[in-house]
Amino acid sequence: MLYFDNAATSWPKPEVVYETHNRVFRQGGNAGRGVNQSSLRAGRLLFETREALCRLFGIPDSERVVFTQNVTEALNVGLQGLLQSGDHVLTSSVEHNAVVRPLEYLRERGVSYTVVPCSREGILDPADVESYIQPNTKLLCFTHASNVLGSILPIIELGQVAKRHQCLFMVDAAQSGGVLPIQVEEQQIDFLAFTGHKGLMGPQGVGGFYAKPGIELHSLIYGGTGIHSQELKQPGIWPEGMESGTRNIPGIAALGAGIEFILDEGLEKIRQHEVNLMTMLLAGLRKLPEVRILGPQNPNRRVGLVSCMFDRHSPEAVSLELDRRYDIVTRAGLHCAPLAHKTAGTLKTGALRFSLSYFQTEEDIQSLLAALASVIGG
Ligand SMILES: Cc1ncc(COP(=O)(O)O)c(C=O)c1O
Repeated sequence: MLYFDNAATSWPKPEVVYETHNRVFRQGGNAGRGVNQSSLRAGRLLFETREALCRLFGIPDSERVVFTQNVTEALNVGLQGLLQSGDHVLTSSVEHNAVVRPLEYLRERGVSYTVVPCSREGILDPADVESYIQPNTKLLCFTHASNVLGSILPIIELGQVAKRHQCLFMVDAAQSGGVLPIQVEEQQIDFLAFTGHKGLMGPQGVGGFYAKPGIELHSLIYGGTGIHSQELKQPGIWPEGMESGTRNIPGIAALGAGIEFILDEGLEKIRQHEVNLMTMLLAGLRKLPEVRILGPQNPNRRVGLVSCMFDRHSPEAVSLELDRRYDIVTRAGLHCAPLAHKTAGTLKTGALRFSLSYFQTEEDIQSLLAALASVIGG
């Protein structure tokens, strides 16, 4: 199998991720549930993954790192916890439904939001964003990179706009975590939402967020935390008070192993490999007849995914043929991001997306291009 759907979920993982998951799953233990040694060991594993996230994202205090199931849940905790009736939010026209749907839910409860248009390539001008600020704008919520167009949004400048107007700044790092540099303090990010199973190389079912000290949030779920058990009211202590119910300890430990792998390899090396593969893929796609590439042409302005359209073939038909005839996995459709497709002009048709991984080689790209040429008759 040649797997080009890493933007949906990355595969394969580093060997150490599989090993860690297997070992921790077998050894058992539930964090914060007693003073027995296996509970303490499980608690230590959670702490170590929080610390690894702190090193990767420049987070000063691991108590402000909360684990959720995925970035969707993290964004929901952030948006639903921060916003109240009367508040206004700015977001972009390339957001995933993980941002748009919670905002729609909140819109019915008195929160308003404005979608700042990106160019057809998914480029966002921070000056535009500034012009949409209103007196009641409380939050700027932007994805770091589009999962359809691949475009990288200017989060440094967006953070500056947020601070100039005393707004909070929230970033969806689903497509950038583990690939692009993220430093929450330097980039003035107040709330960073991440998912474990894509660029962070961990398993599915684990994600989380960082919220700057001083940001008050309530959990969406109440229950056992392993601390202050005599109190019937949910404890306000972080991170435990935000993490009711048993965490996915093997998954979180394996995510920690994925992050350690990334830190050992170095972000720059990972990013450079991705840019090299993307440069080759873009050049090869441009040579094929009837292919229209979505997103920025410059590989340095995008993360490792390329979506495209065909003159005479539907994205679904091409994806199906690549899968059935060549065992090549790609993703056709709307990628849970109708706003991004509207921006690109592909809302009616969807597109075919190829998304890359650190473990792919130039030969893999050549094989994909050859198979694609034969499917579309190039
Ligand atoms: C930009 C973006 N945000 C959010 C998500 C949702 O990720 P998850 O399903 O891990 O919550 C995705 C996944 O495709 C994404 O690409």
